[in-house]
Amino acid sequence: MNCIWYLPADTSAGALGADGLEAVFIAELDSGDKLIRSGSRGAFWLEPLVEAEHAGRRVGFGNVDCESLREVLRLGPDHWSSHPAYLGDIDELPWFQRQSRLTFARAGAGDPLCLDAYESRQGYVALRRALQLAPEEIVDEVTRSGLRGRGGAAFPAGVKWNTVLQAQAAQKYIACNADEGDSGTFADRLLMETDPYQLIEGMTIAGLAVGANTGYIYLRSEYPRTLHVMREAIGRAEQAGYLGQGIGGTDRCFVIELRVGAGAYICGEETAMLESLEGKRGMVRSKPPLPALEGLFGLPTVVNNVLTLASVTSVLADGADAYAAHGSGRSRGTLCLQLAGNVKRGGLLEVPFGMSLREVVMEFGGGTRSGRPVRAIQVGGPLGAYLAEAQWDTPLEYEAFAAVGAMLGHGGVVVFDDTVDMADQARFAMAFCAEESCGKCTPCRIGSTRGVEVIDKIIARDNPQQNLALLEDLCDTMEHGSLCAMGGLTPHPVRSALQHFPQDFSFGKSQDLAEV
Ligand SMILES: Cc1cc2nc3c(=O)[nH]c(=O)nc-3n(C[C@H](O)[C@H](O)[C@H](O)COP(=O)(O)O)c2cc1C
Ligand code: SF4
Repeated sequence: MNCIWYLPADTSAGALGADGLEAVFIAELDSGDKLIRSGSRGAFWLEPLVEAEHAGRRVGFGNVDCESLREVLRLGPDHWSSHPAYLGDIDELPWFQRQSRLTFARAGAGDPLCLDAYESRQGYVALRRALQLAPEEIVDEVTRSGLRGRGGAAFPAGVKWNTVLQAQAAQKYIACNADEGDSGTFADRLLMETDPYQLIEGMTIAGLAVGANTGYIYLRSEYPRTLHVMREAIGRAEQAGYLGQGIGGTDRCFVIELRVGAGAYICGEETAMLESLEGKRGMVRSKPPLPALEGLFGLPTVVNNVLTLASVTSVLADGADAYAAHGSGRSRGTLCLQLAGNVKRGGLLEVPFGMSLREVVMEFGGGTRSGRPVRAIQVGGPLGAYLAEAQWDTPLEYEAFAAVGAMLGHGGVVVFDDTVDMADQARFAMAFCAEESCGKCTPCRIGSTRGVEVIDKIIARDNPQQNLALLEDLCDTMEHGSLCAMGGLTPHPVRSALQHFPQDFSFGKSQDLAEV
């Protein structure tokens, strides 16, 4: 064989034209060559990114279309570097070199469904270690790693696992939250489509740690490719003895079932997700009881995000200390950021906590795609604050972000240039909440609808001072009176837009705000 070609088969690369290249490969590939449908490495700005492994090197070609692929295939290895799409050795691209990839280390390396490939790249090392440990030792390792939930609330994973471990019950569950509803986020999808066994392994370790023999993956319905990949991966893991009865030749058992949501943002909230998993309408439950004690079907349940569960494999494989050596402050390990919106080099970045937002957007992202100045950056999904330039040097850490009235959430970073209308964005936050509210509590259900009306009045300069005061009062009620973070955090984007971009509310940098 001369050369192995890699063409990503995940949703993002597919959306950018990768699937259309397969026919070119079929027609033009040398008989000695081989094509592997891999996954994206997360550099979406280079997709379709085709890679070739030849003579011990692995080189890339960026933004390939059918024509350029034909040219590359006809050129032959000795002349590849003369082609404009040629990127050189893929691992040496600065965009990748400056990252610290733990969770996404395998993304794009090979066929995501090939178990042999997974095992050859550290796969199942963590599970084998976990099988040697007592449940308390696994939980202790996760606790010492400092791993916090990557779904948004950043709750310490070890503390949650310990609560479930200590709970007395004949049946416990692991529920993986793969609803990924935040705007600008795709890390869960990318992880599942490019490295599905990592999630399966992480969930199995969670099951061993807390005494659960069944796990559910709650997957958003908008991810049909992910569903296909996960279904296939679960089947292959079962066949290979990594799932089911007698895992890894022991007497331990763990099974995983897939459930598909129906497109409601609120079903990403953990208790609404549990309701939905039980076959009911996705309504938020009151807490207490905590899901860790009374979760799925009223039984102790670990609810964790895809990335949290996947990260556990790094913790167990390399040890808690190695994982905790990354990061800063109380934010340990790596942060998977999803760079989206109006940005030149969008995609998945995995960096240690502590880097600044400016570095991420300007250096990795290269500024805006439109070429205009960056004006606002929303971090943490639709409930996250809009950050103005004065805040872009805030280190990407949970506490540092909270201190400036923002949050990291699931790591979505959405960039806006100077044409953005921040009054529209504030209105959108309220409208989004009104649309997605589960309707259980008044501050969120009614407050968000009133919020849209009040913002409309402010934009129309209808009694701006009184309406600003009313909006602030409304935000206060939503923040403190809502049952869950949907209503509780919607004031974040609204207030940040008002505070940092008052001129967009058509009263300029007037006294109106100062007087409120
Ligand atoms: C409105 C709302 C939507 C949420 N959506 C998601 C989601 O799509 N995925 C997710 O993992 N967590 C989501 N969360 C957070 C979950 O409630 C919960 O904190 C998380 O699944 C726990 O896992 P972790 O500790 O691993 O982060 C959402 C929370 C709220 C309030
Ligand atoms: S805050 Fe909104 S989404 Fe949350 S429980 Fe209340 S109505 Fe439902």
